[in-house]
Amino acid sequence: MTTQRIEGVAAGANDQGGAPSLTVTDNRTGRSYEIPISDGTIRAVDLRQIRVDDDDFGLMTYDPAFMNTAACRSAITFLDGDRGILRYRGYPIEQLAEHSTFLEVAYLLLHGDLPTRQQLEAWESDIAHHVYVNESTKQFMDGFRYDAHPMGMLEATVGALSTFYPEAKNIGDEANRYRQIVRLIAKMPTLGAWGFRHMMGRPYVYPDKTLPYAGNFLNMLFSHSVVDFERDPRIERALDVLFILHADHEQNCSTSAVRSVGSAQADPYSAVAAGIAALYGPLHGGANEAVLQMLNRIGSTSDIPAFIEGVKAGKERLMGFGHRVYKNYDPRAQIIKKATQDVFEVTGVNPKLAIAMELEKIALEDDYFISRRLYPNVDFYSGLIYEALGMPLEMFTVLFAIGRTPGWVAQWNEMLNDKEQKIARPRQIYVGAEERDYVPLDKR
Ligand code: CMC
Repeated sequence: MTTQRIEGVAAGANDQGGAPSLTVTDNRTGRSYEIPISDGTIRAVDLRQIRVDDDDFGLMTYDPAFMNTAACRSAITFLDGDRGILRYRGYPIEQLAEHSTFLEVAYLLLHGDLPTRQQLEAWESDIAHHVYVNESTKQFMDGFRYDAHPMGMLEATVGALSTFYPEAKNIGDEANRYRQIVRLIAKMPTLGAWGFRHMMGRPYVYPDKTLPYAGNFLNMLFSHSVVDFERDPRIERALDVLFILHADHEQNCSTSAVRSVGSAQADPYSAVAAGIAALYGPLHGGANEAVLQMLNRIGSTSDIPAFIEGVKAGKERLMGFGHRVYKNYDPRAQIIKKATQDVFEVTGVNPKLAIAMELEKIALEDDYFISRRLYPNVDFYSGLIYEALGMPLEMFTVLFAIGRTPGWVAQWNEMLNDKEQKIARPRQIYVGAEERDYVPLDKR
């Protein structure tokens, strides 16, 4: 068998001072190719010209889990995992978390710039006018089993929104697209809160468009319950900040799912439902729920060393630690850790905080985690706040989904405006059987 090896002999501006390029020699044929380098990347299709003969399909790249493949150009979120930097449209996440609101950040992600006062008021009013859902939504929500997971309900009900807005399929019309984007951001808290009420066996609370975004959500979750619900601005602000921190994270698993489904020109409700499905997984948004389950299981600080040994032996993962991109402390985790103090001032300290902090301390001093560059991620502390707010575990990922919606729709919209994008369709390396003849059942 011939060996196939590519040698990148030159990577930089060529000898004549021209555009940067990569020279590749195919050792199967001895031929050399010059591949342009742009933005630190080569185009995978440029490798297709590298063939052994006319029957050869051409060279492909093999990149399971997209470890080193950029699938789009995006101007929305900048992330430097080594330095722990996260910026939305150029603005550092720390500044947005301190000074902005979730709806302002949603506007920023979608439009590219911070709104003027007038633009912000119009945007907030657009969102407020779309918080209601069709009455029949209540009926199909009632159809779920009494203990249905609210994330499963959210996934299904967001997908079902497409049946109420058939015009959403018209994705080529920018004004129509905007309307669906507003609807999605506006209705997510309503659907999320109603999933919670269903699980708790409580009547649904209608949205109140006069309340701020986070306040309306909290009201739909907790008002009219056994204990009188009093809105606290510190809690509302903490929730708003949590939504800001989750609003976008470039090409993560769920956003890639939204882009992938959206690339088939599906309506945005179907695309976002796919994002919710991806987020549900415990390695992605479901990690916040898994962190609390883990803290419950550990039980006390004295049991941490035994737990850590189990993690190091590969028996399980330290949930809320590690990230595909961050190889440094996740900046969102720093902000959330600080926000826990504000929430605990109102709610009283969650006793699991001590376990989480001790776990973090031990892990950050342990060579297993240091050598693999595993640090707390956004999910490590967020669950503690959610629990302090009175949310059951099952609601944690729903909160993530509400926060992530502006990012999903901004990325979907950007993709549709990108002339280079087409239906997403990866290639494969076929490793199955060669052609063979069908064997009748009685001869097998
Ligand atoms: N606990 C213990 N070991 C870990 C962990 C962890 N949380 N994360 C990674 N490792 C180890 C892993 O076993 C591997 O070790 P080795 O090289 O000896 O085989 C090494 O670190 C590299 O791990 P990987 O699985 O190749 O890394 P990845 O980039 O594919 O996975 C991750 C990233 C987030 C899925 C992973 O770190 C993980 O499972 N973390 C726990 C789940 C979690 O907290 N997810 C939330 C991510 S942030 C929010 C979001 O995106 O939704």
